[in-house]
Amino acid sequence: MPKVTFLPENITIDYDPETMPYSEHGLKGSLLDIALNNGLHLEHACGGSCACTTCHVIVKSGDANLSEMEDEEADRVELSPGLTLHSRLGCQCVVTGDVTVEIPNWNRNYVSEGGGSINLGDAIPVKKA
Ligand code: FES
Repeated sequence: MPKVTFLPENITIDYDPETMPYSEHGLKGSLLDIALNNGLHLEHACGGSCACTTCHVIVKSGDANLSEMEDEEADRVELSPGLTLHSRLGCQCVVTGDVTVEIPNWNRNYVSEGGGSINLGDAIPVKKA
């Protein structure tokens, strides 16, 4: 079963793609879909339709275990703050094996538990220790 690790929280999600339901956000089996299915919030202001850059992640390992970038994602991800050669949009890249991604610095303030969206007003913010 694939494992997806989200940094800097270092949260690893081990899931079964055959039985995981669709979260209704982003492509089925995408990083966003996996995160939301497992209670990890990844911002997704446009609802996962490749129309914003708030789901931007930086792939640390496992580039080859993500679906190839389509033109629509390539055009959109170029607008992401802090763009890198390993930047992807979490809602557009479908996971096929083990992957580690980092949620960029600028977007971490939006991280919350519960899988909602701060921009859509239904997120539960992470409690600071
Ligand atoms: S959620 Fe808007 S582009 Fe991914």
